[in-house]
Amino acid sequence: MINFLTAGESHGRQLSIIVEGVPAGLIVDKNIINKMLSERQKGFGRGERMKIERDEVVFTSGIRAGVTLGSPISMVIENRDWENWKEVMSPDLKGINYEIASEKKVLNPRPGHADLPGAIKYNQKDLRNILERASARETAARVAVGSLLSQLLAEFGMDVVSYVVKIGGISADMDKDLNIDDIKNRLNTSKLRCLDKKVEEMMIARIKEAMEDGDTLGGVFEVKAKNIPVGLGSYTQWDKRLNANLAKALMSIPGIKGVEIGMGFEAANKFGSMVHDEIHYNEKRKFYRETNNAGGIEGGISNGEDIILRAAMKPIPTLNRGLSSVNIISKEEHRSSYERSDICVLPAVSVVGWSMVVIELTKAFLEKFGGDNMEEIKRNYKGYKEYLNSF
Ligand SMILES: Cc1cc2nc3c(=O)[nH]c(=O)nc-3n(C[C@H](O)[C@H](O)[C@H](O)COP(=O)(O)O)c2cc1C
Repeated sequence: MINFLTAGESHGRQLSIIVEGVPAGLIVDKNIINKMLSERQKGFGRGERMKIERDEVVFTSGIRAGVTLGSPISMVIENRDWENWKEVMSPDLKGINYEIASEKKVLNPRPGHADLPGAIKYNQKDLRNILERASARETAARVAVGSLLSQLLAEFGMDVVSYVVKIGGISADMDKDLNIDDIKNRLNTSKLRCLDKKVEEMMIARIKEAMEDGDTLGGVFEVKAKNIPVGLGSYTQWDKRLNANLAKALMSIPGIKGVEIGMGFEAANKFGSMVHDEIHYNEKRKFYRETNNAGGIEGGISNGEDIILRAAMKPIPTLNRGLSSVNIISKEEHRSSYERSDICVLPAVSVVGWSMVVIELTKAFLEKFGGDNMEEIKRNYKGYKEYLNSF
């Protein structure tokens, strides 16, 4: 069973990650991880911080000569910005410069962030003690895990992509005929990981507008998983349902406020005859559908069609122009605090969403075909493919 833990503050020394349950014998290409880490840092609308960081993973255990050992894999991603923050964030008493740390105190909670509920919960009088961990810097660690596990899915021909479909109310026109290579090519040249070039320009203009107004934006991204075999997940217990686990994984990303699968909320407005994907059969394709409104999952089980999910992100809560708030010490009204921040992160969050979907699909895949090493899993999978052909 795949499990992972992350640790690290936004301006701390590093992010630390431990992943357990990865089988032995997986060849790992670090460049794939670093490429996805760099994708998470990009996108029009990001703030100055990402110009400082050059995220790169360092493996510290569980891999030898580029191949997994079956033991826990630990990785770190260093924060370059640590150099500028160590007198504020040092874990050692002696490392702190109290004058600078006091200047960097945060007292005016940002609505929409963990600042106020976190300060009350953990009894903190400096909101920095909350926001440093609540910050989405942690999502870099998730991308490291996702891009590591994507290499396992690739061994079995599975592929996952993600792209932005809406920013600040401006929707991309989706070309349903784009295949996965077209999508990847388009992503390589897009400033917003958006597949619709024309609409992308309008999205950029909307982000510029928000920037000039000291405001922020949210949006929607989509994740598509291809070649996922029928049979992952189960209806037999609530926490085995693949749709539920994917939704939870996406909802765990900071700022995500809703998840749809397939036709999603729109299905609630339609007749059943307009929604459910009718079943056909022929010798070559076996069981198949002409539509995929279910988004590749029925009864909590993958049905062999593409898995399609969308997640909606609220606008970034740190506004340059601030919002009404209250100083936690004086209790007087004060604009919310501002610290270097992103304006719109849909391209980045789509990469984090990609990672979370990869992680959940890997968990479900290993639950069904799992073994201690890649050879064993390949044998299991081959046997299942033969069985599918005979069904
Ligand atoms: C990749 C990424 C980058 C983010 N960057 C910022 C940022 O610079 N400033 C900010 O206020 N919020 C940022 N956010 C959003 C906050 O992390 C999020 O809104 C906050 O944690 C509260 O969300 P919640 O109520 O869903 O937990 C970012 C989120 C992600 C996923």
